[in-house]
This record gives sequence, structure tokens and C-alpha cells, in this order.
Amino acid sequence: MQLPSLIVLGAPGSGKGTQAEKISKHFGYTHLSTGDLLRSEIEKKTELGELVQGIISKGDLVGDEIVLALLKKHYAGIGDTVLLDGFPRNIQQATMLDRDLFTDPSIVRAIYFKLDLSILKERIINRRTCKDCNEIYNLITKPLSSDGSCLKCGSKNIAHRKDDTSEVVENRLKVFSETFDPILDYYRQSGRLLEVDAQQAVDKVFNDLVNLISI
Ligand code: AP5
Repeated sequence: MQLPSLIVLGAPGSGKGTQAEKISKHFGYTHLSTGDLLRSEIEKKTELGELVQGIISKGDLVGDEIVLALLKKHYAGIGDTVLLDGFPRNIQQATMLDRDLFTDPSIVRAIYFKLDLSILKERIINRRTCKDCNEIYNLITKPLSSDGSCLKCGSKNIAHRKDDTSEVVENRLKVFSETFDPILDYYRQSGRLLEVDAQQAVDKVFNDLVNLISI
């Protein structure tokens, strides 16, 4: 089966990271998340990390050229079996991808994680992530173990993202609403858009994605 190159599209908290990990493991994709790449630069205190830290902590978008350069660096040598998460964030980034990154844009499929935005704030402020194995938790719907450690790897190194506060989430959702429609149109008009109902339980969303990707 020829796998498409994948892009997961959707609002902050719509479950892109959760499903990207599961899909990558299931089909053998390389998962590239621009959010994770940027946070890693901040953690390592690189020059780039220092530059983007303030932007991310406010919930605004980092400059297109900066993120594209970072993505290109990590994309080199991966090939077509890639799953992009967090990129593109605006129409300029969508066109950059087709022009500068993908060798064959026609085999790309963008999957829109569709849901009601009103449920997202609750999801996001309750998110926690294991810094050692990247497992994503939710204090309400997918809690950590009773001693606060990761159920998957046992680590107690658990992160609460700085941009997952109530105030910053509101700005992230505003930025999303202002930039997203043209991206959807871009992939819809080129016949490369798929959709999943992302409001369902995690396992149900995953099953639907497996079916969509396997067609
Ligand atoms: P990024 O890291 O990409 O964040 P995001 O797009 O805002 O998405 P999230 O990571 O918040 O959510 P998600 O959809 O992955 O949800 P998750 O699976 O974790 O970007 C962060 C920042 O970096 C940006 O604001 C920007 O500043 C910068 N940036 C990144 N890329 C950029 C770019 N290309 N250009 C410019 N700037 C860029 O799930 C969320 C929670 O919900 C979890 O607790 C999870 O357990 C729970 N959950 C998941 N699925 C379900 C379900 N089906 N039912 C119930 N709960 C669920």
C-alpha cells in the first residue's frame, strides 16, 4: 500500500498530537511536530529558542521563515513517509510546503480534526505531557498514575506547557480562527482534504483515521 504523506490540521487541543503518535506507530510514519521542535529549542536554550520563547508563551505564531527552516532541517533524509503536525498554520506556510518541502505534493493528504471549539479550553488547561516518552495525558479524561508518574514509562518528569493557561489558550484559539479557513480551502480545492470527527473518544478517532489513511 502506498501511504500518503500526512498533515494533521485542527485547532489547539483538537487531538493532533495524541493521534499523530498513534498513527505514526501504527503505519511507520515519522512524526514531525513544529510545536515540539520549537519547545525543544527553548528547552536547550539555543539562540532560536530565546528568539521564539516570548512569542510562544503569548500564543502568537512564530515567523514563517523561522519555522520552515527548522522543519527543513529535521525533514532532511526522512522521505515521503512523514506526518506533519502543527505546520502549516497559515496559507503562506501551506504554499511553502508544496513549493519547498514535498517532492510530490500530489501524494499529500491533509486531515482536518473537526470539532466544536467550545470544548477545547477545558482539554488544553488539563493537559500534561511526559517529558521522557512524550505520552500526552489529561487530568480529567486520561489521568497520570496515582503518584503523578507516567503510566507508560514511569517517569515523574511531567510537563505542564506554559502556553496551556486559560489566558494564553484564548489567544491561541483566536489566532486559529483568524488563520484557518484559507488553509482548509487550499487543501479542499486541490482535492487533498480529508476530515475526521475529532470530538469522539480517542480510540474511535484513531479507528476512523486508520480507515481514512488505508483507503
Ligand atoms: P503546537 O505545539 O503545534 O500546539 P497546537 O497546535 O496549539 O496544538 P496542541 O499541541 O495544543 O493540541 P493538539 O491538537 O496536539 O492536542 P493534544 O493531542 O495534545 O504549537 C504551540 C505553539 O508553537 C503555537 O502557539 C505557536 O506559537 C508555535 N508554533 C508551532 N507551529 C508553528 C507554525 N507552524 N508556525 C508558527 N508558529 C508555530 O490533546 C490536547 C488534550 O486533549 C490532551 O490533554 C489530550 O489528552 C486530550 N485529548 C486528545 N484527544 C482527545 C479526545 N478525543 N477526547 C478527549 N480528550 C482528548
